Amino acid sequence: MSPTRHFLTLLDFSPAELTRMLQRAIQMKGEHREGRDQRMFPGTVLGMIFAKSSTRTRVSFEAGMAQLGGHAMFLSPQDTQLGRGEPVEDSARVISSMVDIVMIRTFGHDIVERFAAFSRVPVINALTDDYHPCQLLADMQTWIEHRGSISGKTACWVGDGNNMCQSYINAARQFDFELRIACPAGFEPNAQLLAANADRVRVEHDPLRAAAGADLVVTDVWASMGQESEQLERARLFARYQVNAELMSRAASDALYMHCLPAHRGEEISAELMDAPDTVIWDEAENRLHAQKALLETLLLANR
Ligand code: CP
Ligand code: NVA
Repeated sequence: MSPTRHFLTLLDFSPAELTRMLQRAIQMKGEHREGRDQRMFPGTVLGMIFAKSSTRTRVSFEAGMAQLGGHAMFLSPQDTQLGRGEPVEDSARVISSMVDIVMIRTFGHDIVERFAAFSRVPVINALTDDYHPCQLLADMQTWIEHRGSISGKTACWVGDGNNMCQSYINAARQFDFELRIACPAGFEPNAQLLAANADRVRVEHDPLRAAAGADLVVTDVWASMGQESEQLERARLFARYQVNAELMSRAASDALYMHCLPAHRGEEISAELMDAPDTVIWDEAENRLHAQKALLETLLLANR
């Protein structure tokens, strides 16, 4: 049998596979809206391990699995032996002997890597401190639905060089676009990741210059989960890095802006942009459901 495939970062699939998966997501979204029966995986179980909070990720995976005819099981470290020190490797062996696919949201990226190394079923990274690839599937699906191919376009990241920013670096490589990152000094993404993608990604500390002519502007919270104690200091340091009407006036006239949510109006994004009637942010959130159903289908079929 071929080795189990996982989805820990966007680099686990080829550009062609990612494009196919997003086409399938768009197709499945249409079928779902028509009320078609999508129960392709009866009796299939998704284990969902959440060491951090979630609204979109939990609801989309759980609803998506039900729509595919399977079942989703919520597991939190507080209520499992994971929270009492049972090794990740032992947990992976046991859990993967009972379910068909696993999704993990946690802190260190090494935790999903260690789990995957000992899992006999596919493992999906549902956010670590370093990457959030599921969100990028939804963002890219949203771009494709509104604008077509993103190849050759320019995206501008505004804010922290965090897990979402680092996933955008991988997306720039896999979907072939240029990425400018506007972050305060000291909040750059991983230096090795930047160096490996220097042909298409650059850091520009001035947000207005970084946004000039951009086709897509993206932001995220200034303090991620696990950084709550830094919130006040970050609010001071990031004050210039807000996606608002002034910043969008520097971008291309038909530029889109995205936010993975949850958003803090008046911090990383203005209330005006969040509540604009033509924002694609709500499509972006909904597409978590459709993109991840395509992801679940791809991984489940690959592991049959
Ligand atoms: N964007 C995202 O992952 O949202 P949740 O934290 O609500 O899952
Ligand atoms: N960067 C944010 C993303 C939340 C979906 C965090 O890690 O908290």
